[in-house]
Amino acid sequence: MSGKDTSRKKFNSSPKPQQKPKHYPHIGRKEKEPDAAFWAKLYRVGDTGWDQGGPSPGLVDFLKDDVGARRAMPLRSGCALVPGCGHGHDARALASAGFDVIGLDVVKSAVREAARLAKSEGLTGIRFEQADFFDLSGILRGPYDLIFENTFFCAIDPGLRDRYVETAANLLHPGGFLLGIFYNIQPETGPPFGVTREELIERFGHRFTLALDRVPRSISRREGKELLMLWQRKT
Ligand SMILES: C[S@@+](CC[C@H](N)C(=O)[O-])C[C@H]1O[C@@H](n2cnc3c(N)ncnc32)[C@H](O)[C@@H]1O
Repeated sequence: MSGKDTSRKKFNSSPKPQQKPKHYPHIGRKEKEPDAAFWAKLYRVGDTGWDQGGPSPGLVDFLKDDVGARRAMPLRSGCALVPGCGHGHDARALASAGFDVIGLDVVKSAVREAARLAKSEGLTGIRFEQADFFDLSGILRGPYDLIFENTFFCAIDPGLRDRYVETAANLLHPGGFLLGIFYNIQPETGPPFGVTREELIERFGHRFTLALDRVPRSISRREGKELLMLWQRKT
């Protein structure tokens, strides 16, 4: 590779000032088209600052039934989808907790590594597929009992957010759950693109009912910047 790699986006670094969109001013301007090639390049150069090396603390607490959080979701098993799974740390935590899990990511090297890690832990009931969340076919279309997402919503083009909500709802059984750990930041360029609690409520409220809403435990550099929301698909 020659010259400076301008695609490198630091998930936790200071953003540059840019023009802001009209309706959701907290959403950063697109620095790069966050397409499959963009993500593949980040994996290739090892610029994966979002990777926590393990499951999200918010998910870990949720699965341990931290302060009764799981009363809101009685489900203890079933079929779970983890879109934008990266190296699959959250997917493995869900499989260890008893779910049958499909992790998907648009980057082949990511799902390959995710599969390797799951195998090295001897996990069963988990598999990884290279696929685009917005263009799923066959068995990947579900329906699922649960979708878990962690910094995937903030990774996609903000213009796809309503489509994300529709896609997620249509992949779930009526009454199925979407558990999300969303990135509540306000950078001026993205990805990652910030999201506020208000925007999430506005967008998800059409197809989902909010069952749980809290600021989860996070790794130190994300402390107070995440929103854990459990959404239940309306029937
Ligand atoms: C910020 S990373 C988060 C990865 C993982 N959830 C984690 O927390 O470690 C976003 C992930 O979404 C994937 N991705 C982006 N667009 C996608 C799409 N349309 N379909 C599936 N995966 C996608 C990227 O390749 C990347 O692995």
